[in-house]
Amino acid sequence: MDKLLIEGGRRLAGEAAISGAKNAALPILCAALLTREPVTFTNVPQLNDIGTLLKLLGQMGVKVSRDGDAVTLDASVIDNPVAPYEMVKTMRASILVLGPLVARCGEARVSLPGGCAIGARPVDQHIKGLQAMGAEVQVEHGYVHAMVPRLTGARLFTDMVTVTGTENLMMAACLANGETVIENAAREPEVVDLANCLIAMGARISGAGTDVIRIRGVESLSGTTHRIMPDRIETGTYLCAAAATGGEIRLTRTSTAYVDSVVDKLMDAGCDVTSERDAIRLKAPARLTSVSIRTSPYPAFPTDMQAQFMAINAVANGAAMIRETIFENRFMHAVELQRLGADIRIDGNTAVVHGVERLQGATVMATDLRASASLVIAGLVADGETVIERIYHLDRGYERLEEKLAALGARVRRLT
Ligand code: UD1
Repeated sequence: MDKLLIEGGRRLAGEAAISGAKNAALPILCAALLTREPVTFTNVPQLNDIGTLLKLLGQMGVKVSRDGDAVTLDASVIDNPVAPYEMVKTMRASILVLGPLVARCGEARVSLPGGCAIGARPVDQHIKGLQAMGAEVQVEHGYVHAMVPRLTGARLFTDMVTVTGTENLMMAACLANGETVIENAAREPEVVDLANCLIAMGARISGAGTDVIRIRGVESLSGTTHRIMPDRIETGTYLCAAAATGGEIRLTRTSTAYVDSVVDKLMDAGCDVTSERDAIRLKAPARLTSVSIRTSPYPAFPTDMQAQFMAINAVANGAAMIRETIFENRFMHAVELQRLGADIRIDGNTAVVHGVERLQGATVMATDLRASASLVIAGLVADGETVIERIYHLDRGYERLEEKLAALGARVRRLT
């Protein structure tokens, strides 16, 4: 299994281009299931998760063609509206096929995602929403089996803010009979990107980006072309990597518009961040000041940036408190960071990090996607060599990581 070797202690400097957002691309690719006409997406990142989803769509009957960062999907025929366990278990976001399949085919069988490294993550809200729209849903033999001749618009209220839940129900409602209102909807920019794509396909959606989304169902949707938004978590991760190393970088093909809460914290930590048209510049002090964070749904601080901030606090001046309110088991990177010499204490959903002068390179293990990003950041600042095992987690979400880091002056090598 591939490993990543990082020689720490080099200041990041230079320019890197940010890829399209994984978490926008996944739902948007699923939206192609809603139409018989071909749809073309650009700025699609080349990541393992995207490959998994395209394979999943392919085995349903969707014709998939890829050309660089462009993907064209032709779902004129869907002959197998099933998402098997083997595929869903590697990627929870496969649940995003459920809403579009039910809406388009009147039936879907999607494996339950089950637990994952960062917590139980149930899909009860997705199911509850489809039931409210008239679907008959049974959970049997580990599969969600949903059936309905045509969904009916309904007033939906999710118990908590759920990103993929909102996306699934918004897609399903596009072809429903009548109006659907999703209350307590997720406001993430990826939800807005999906809504914009659906609107370009002929959907009638208003309110995306607020917590009340209204969808007036239509008979059918048409093909379109859509450019995927920049990846705000990749953006934030590179900003943190540069900040931790006392670096100075410019990130292109992205914008501060998507990362306000992260930029705000980096400025509190002592960084100078400037916004340009489709680019961000960051200049870090020699040593950061620690910053406390609390994760919450957008526009508050994202849980997907929590691990990276634990890494930067590990070497900052002072102590910081990190509170995780979205997932119940998302501190697994802490023990790995401790192996590198970090001073972190965990109590329930709170971590207290006392910054140390130096981390020391060691062998550590990636446990999930964003946890692995925090280990990369720590490895970049640690003395000596850090080896990160199980980097397939990184490959799920960071396109051409070694190449981009090398362009910024890091010494990073994949060991195969
Ligand atoms: C999405 C993102 C993920 C991010 C997360 C939170 C994608 C593909 N993934 O995941 O990177 O970390 O949002 O910003 O976009 N919940 C339930 N029942 C449900 C649905 C959710 O209890 O039916 C709970 C979850 O266990 C979690 C919380 O709600 O505690 C939020 O989860 P959710 O927003 O659904 O996360 P994902 O959409 O899976």
